[in-house]
Amino acid sequence: MQLKLFTALSTLVTFVLGSPLLLNKRAELCGQWDNESVGDYIVYNNLWGMGSGDGSQCTEVLGLDGNTLSWRTSWSWSGGPYDVKSYANAAYLFDPKVISDISNIPFTWSWSYTGSDDMVANVAFDLWTSTSSTGDYEYEIMIWLAAFNGAGPLGSSVGTFSYEGTRWTLYKGTNGAQTVYSFIASNNIESLTSNALPFITHLVDNGYLDKSQYLRAIQSGTEPFLGTNAELTSTKYSVEIN
Ligand SMILES: *[C@@H]1O[C@H](CO)[C@@H](O)[C@H](O)[C@H]1NC(C)=O
Repeated sequence: MQLKLFTALSTLVTFVLGSPLLLNKRAELCGQWDNESVGDYIVYNNLWGMGSGDGSQCTEVLGLDGNTLSWRTSWSWSGGPYDVKSYANAAYLFDPKVISDISNIPFTWSWSYTGSDDMVANVAFDLWTSTSSTGDYEYEIMIWLAAFNGAGPLGSSVGTFSYEGTRWTLYKGTNGAQTVYSFIASNNIESLTSNALPFITHLVDNGYLDKSQYLRAIQSGTEPFLGTNAELTSTKYSVEIN
């Protein structure tokens, strides 16, 4: 019955529009590691921590204008309040580059987040470095633009970093495989045009990171801990490395 109705509708649409269904909606990515390449980015439905809770998440590319990407991710997760369930993200494609050879990493990120009142999540960059241009990552550098309802980074506070009028608290910890540095904005920042290199340079200047490390990955996304009917829309995102 439903199939017949659909067939009838398709025929009607085909007849009216003169060509097969023109509903050109992009596919939603709902499976673990599902991804879509768009311009210089790959958008991932990365559900790496899904085993520590119950829930689901889907991610969708909304569009690309020049180098500016628009995408969104929707999720509901229950389970351990201190366990990250996923990191849906936009990964920038570039060749690994030695930190001392980088002159800047300009970015723009505007986003909005809706969800249940108890939603615990962050909005964050994730950068990865290592001694060589291949092999395992050794350092993870996070830049948190937002922390909702007490979402917290790994490790403990080792200082602060002020840049362009924003004060960031720096945490140092480990995820078991990498040393993790996290810069946490003092207030949620829904729109920021800035440069990621000074954050890395701050680590180098304080002896936390060697400038001979290769920057291997730049990702931007959200880590959900807990919440329902949540949706991050990354309305404008661009980054480049020079
Ligand atoms: C991206 O998705 C494809 C399937 O569409 C899969 O084969 C590939 O492994 C995924 N990439 C990564 C890095 O997970």
